[in-house]
Amino acid sequence: MLVQGCVIVPGDKSLTHRLLLLAGLAAGRSRIRGALTSLDARSTAKVLRCLGVSVSPLRAGTEIHVTAKGRLSRPREILHCGNSGTTARLLMGLLAGHDFPASLTGDKSLRRRPMRRVTDPLSLMGARFGRKGSPLPDRLPLAIRGGDLRGINWEPEVSSAQVKGALLFAGVVGRVPVAIREPNGRSRDHTERLLRSFGYPVEETSDGWIRFQPSGTVEPFDVEVPGDISSAAFLMGAAVLATGGSLAITGVGLNPTRSGFLRVLERMGGRVTVTETGTSCGEPVGNLYVRPGSLVGTTVTAAEIPGLIDEIPMLAVLATRALGPTRFHEVGELRVKESDRLGLLAENIRAVGGEAAVQGNDLVVQGRRTPPGGRVRTDGDHRLAMAFAVLRMADGARVEVDDLSCAEVSFPGFREVLDGIKGR
Ligand code: S3P
Repeated sequence: MLVQGCVIVPGDKSLTHRLLLLAGLAAGRSRIRGALTSLDARSTAKVLRCLGVSVSPLRAGTEIHVTAKGRLSRPREILHCGNSGTTARLLMGLLAGHDFPASLTGDKSLRRRPMRRVTDPLSLMGARFGRKGSPLPDRLPLAIRGGDLRGINWEPEVSSAQVKGALLFAGVVGRVPVAIREPNGRSRDHTERLLRSFGYPVEETSDGWIRFQPSGTVEPFDVEVPGDISSAAFLMGAAVLATGGSLAITGVGLNPTRSGFLRVLERMGGRVTVTETGTSCGEPVGNLYVRPGSLVGTTVTAAEIPGLIDEIPMLAVLATRALGPTRFHEVGELRVKESDRLGLLAENIRAVGGEAAVQGNDLVVQGRRTPPGGRVRTDGDHRLAMAFAVLRMADGARVEVDDLSCAEVSFPGFREVLDGIKGR
């Protein structure tokens, strides 16, 4: 299969959630251009509307307008976060600083995901969860009542930008200091960068602490969201697996805490040229030019994992076509993503004739030359669906994905874009 074309990927998901939520805290009208309009982004828009914020419809190619009053209002209905863990966890940070009760829920996948990582520190800050005297809830649905908060110094068990973001948002709303130190590798730093761009002092010390000091308020803003590197990763994977041609992807966010995929792909022999063209939302942005290539296996260290956490499905699928083994260290966190992504990844690699094993918290994939073939079970996990859909680019592949519609969670129109880059 040949690859061709020049594409723009949808707006960054992490930034879109954060910008919508921050706009909900500003007094006035904010404009967000290039925002992601996928199902996950719509979940954030929907819960904000329930909290008294006016958010214009999320339609691709249109500017999003968010009009807010500086504080959220008490919701009349349950806040449904759909499939979006980022919506649920960041929202809890905002609600922690508001003195009214609210209830959150999500779809079947989200109701399985752990919440204690957020409810624990937020309750130490003063938010109340569930019924008085009952243990802190670890799953949705859950009830929260915010109020006056106190500051926190927190060292979470896992590096998670959702946890970090929730605590920093609680700091903004409650006007209290927050310090957080992540255990192994640094998670994406979009929240820190955005808060700095609003004039909040967010510092990083040499011993790994991120320190936030409350000051001022969030003012209405006008920003342009860069393309999502996690979505670009699937198209880059397709281009690498193709037998000829090339692909250009423009306007992609290149935040160093998000672009670990590029470094690992390069180590595997992927032929990618990166050209930085400017900045947007306080983050570097640029163009990617990708050509097919032969891959070799590699070792991905535990410290690298937070910088490419969402790209492991794509990298693991690419590893099935590489020469030699690839080991991903300490990827146990994948068990609590939109699916048991770790177990399903290994299972599906085997289902298409590849070799993969979960060893403790590590994933080991052995490359093979034989063309992949078989049926993939995604459990509604968008990133698994897209990674295996890309495997169809490999020479002689006969791969069937049970449900590719779930790609709409993060990449609207993925199927059409993937078809569009196939050369004749
Ligand atoms: C996200 C953080 C990541 C990532 C998710 C989006 C974010 O989760 O997997 O898709 O926007 O903060 P963790 O940081 O909790 O691993």
